[in-house]
Amino acid sequence: MESDQTELKRAVAERAAALVQQGMAVGLGTGSTAALLVEALIRRVRNENLHFVAVPTSERTAQQASAGGILLTDLGAHPQLDLAIDGADQIARGSLALIKGYGGALLREKIVAAAAARFVVIADDSKLADGLDKKVPVEVVRFGWQATDRRIRALGAETEMRKTSDGKPYLTDGGNFILDADFGPMPDPAATDTALRAITGVVETGLFIDMADEALLASASGVVTLTRG
Ligand code: A5P
Repeated sequence: MESDQTELKRAVAERAAALVQQGMAVGLGTGSTAALLVEALIRRVRNENLHFVAVPTSERTAQQASAGGILLTDLGAHPQLDLAIDGADQIARGSLALIKGYGGALLREKIVAAAAARFVVIADDSKLADGLDKKVPVEVVRFGWQATDRRIRALGAETEMRKTSDGKPYLTDGGNFILDADFGPMPDPAATDTALRAITGVVETGLFIDMADEALLASASGVVTLTRG
């Protein structure tokens, strides 16, 4: 039997899968909620003869989608996507500012979200918060990462190198490291994002500001849609 949280994720994934229409170019996110979305879309491809093309945000998602018969494309062939759907690690009520990247795919996720006319976030309601206060994944190039780390710490964060289960540094699909930066509550996440991205060696941050158009959130009482405002 599925856990309650998986049931909520499935409910929101099913709802989001219904947004995909014939002929669309769609960005597909990464993570456990996005995996349920891909599962639901594979069912629609099989049962409804749905034809669409997808840009995956990770090798994991690419593998799952193509194994299930979803046609993959890239941003070269489709630089403008009709829709992107992805999970999130924390969602700020109102602004829909996001923390993403606990699954390590933040760079491709941000590129894909930025290329989409409509970016929809899917999550269970445990991800919704009044403001952002969780750790911010920061993708950094390997060369000189210690110097980059010092400059991130100088902004007031405690940082930790992301590691794999066997203790080795985690490598992103782009071959970079991730430093998880704890700033505590961030009263102005846009300023934090700008300051981080100004540091040489920082490739991208997991702060997604002014990007999400809607958030579909599942709770025990159903799925609600929040819009940015
Ligand atoms: C992947 O890099 C992340 O941004 C995910 O979108 C995020 O971690 C949400 O994952 P879950 O759906 O597994 O919570």
